[in-house]
Amino acid sequence: MSLLKVDNLVTRLRNGARIVDDISFDIAAGETFALLGESGCGKSMTALSLMRLLPDGVVNASGAVQMDGVALFDLRERDMREMRGGRMAMIFQEPGLSLNPVMTVGRQIAEVLALHHDLKGAAAQQRSIELLDQVGIPDAPRRVREYPFRLSGGMKQRVMIAMALAGSPRLLIADEPTTALDVTIQAQVLQLLRDTQSRTGMAMLLITHDLGVVAENAHRVAVMYAGQIVEQASREQLFARPLHPYTQKLFAALPGAARAGQLLSAISGSVPPLGSIKQGCRFAARCDQAWARCHEQNPEWTAVAEGQGVRCHLYGEEGGGGKGKGGRGKGRSGAAGFPFSLISFPFTLAGRRPASALPDPQRHPAACGRQR
Ligand SMILES: Nc1ncnc2c1ncn2[C@@H]1O[C@H](COP(=O)(O)OP(=O)(O)O)[C@@H](O)[C@H]1O
Ligand code: SF4
Ligand SMILES: [Mg+2]
Repeated sequence: MSLLKVDNLVTRLRNGARIVDDISFDIAAGETFALLGESGCGKSMTALSLMRLLPDGVVNASGAVQMDGVALFDLRERDMREMRGGRMAMIFQEPGLSLNPVMTVGRQIAEVLALHHDLKGAAAQQRSIELLDQVGIPDAPRRVREYPFRLSGGMKQRVMIAMALAGSPRLLIADEPTTALDVTIQAQVLQLLRDTQSRTGMAMLLITHDLGVVAENAHRVAVMYAGQIVEQASREQLFARPLHPYTQKLFAALPGAARAGQLLSAISGSVPPLGSIKQGCRFAARCDQAWARCHEQNPEWTAVAEGQGVRCHLYGEEGGGGKGKGGRGKGRSGAAGFPFSLISFPFTLAGRRPASALPDPQRHPAACGRQR
């Protein structure tokens, strides 16, 4: 059974423009589900929608989110506060802005402990030190009394993780948890999250624009573009056979040993401004495979294989694709035309660990191989 279940979520500006447009996915205990896409696709807004922490002017317009069987959008704010930090916690994209600058890190962690575990005084102090130690902060008994400005970016990120873990969440939402960090610290932080997941069986929604991070950490992946999920697959499916032209371009833009000496291809253009595409596929202006229909009709979701679906006309009825058909549009170069020899799986980037180093989902049987 899913721990988190998101159905047809729509998040929009008060003027009606949709930031998150009808997305659905679910995550099981012990599973890492990655939300992948370039900047401005709506990944952070999705996370903030789930936490009901949207900024002013942005509202959850429709859809449903269930966490552990509880409908989040029906909760009173008081009950939602219990949920946040307790059953679900979030590591924000920018740790520097998320910590309170006028409170010591120990007090900030202790607040979570008091709220969710009723721990106070010396017990809370002791547990804060343990948590800082667990996230790899050296000399935790001293650091617990420090203010955020005394800490480096990597340290602040670790404090954020300690705060998130303090409530023993069943779901951790990690929004680009390593983007602001240098490569060595990135690897350590991701390892820490994997270790914690193995130990506790928590689920993770991992938001990233980095396919290398997906390769190392995710069990399943949703690729997001302009507010929509355009492809969803298991990690293995995605790396063996990316279907959506956007996903294929993300792969083609990757450096890798197999492509040494070749030019990397950039994805030309940018994500369209909110609400600017009134009809047709949102990726059409950047897609090499677009044809007239792409500019006229919004592609529907097509299930292509067990656990893998895509929003692209190449795979719909007229494209000749869809589940069981395995085809594509006449004369079009769909997934079958993708140069898979460029990508080998298990995927390795220089200095990255092989995908086999993931937490073992078998420990949490519901976690893997289960698709919507
Ligand atoms: N506070 C805000 N008010 C209105 N629009 C916003 C706000 N924050 C982000 N947006 C818009 O929402 C869209 C998605 O943003 P975001 O979820 O932050 O993208 P991502 O995390 O994928 O980079 C962007 O077009 C962005 O301009
Ligand atoms: S629907 Fe058309 S434009 Fe959109 S991704 Fe598919 S082929 Fe490209
Ligand atoms: Mg973001």
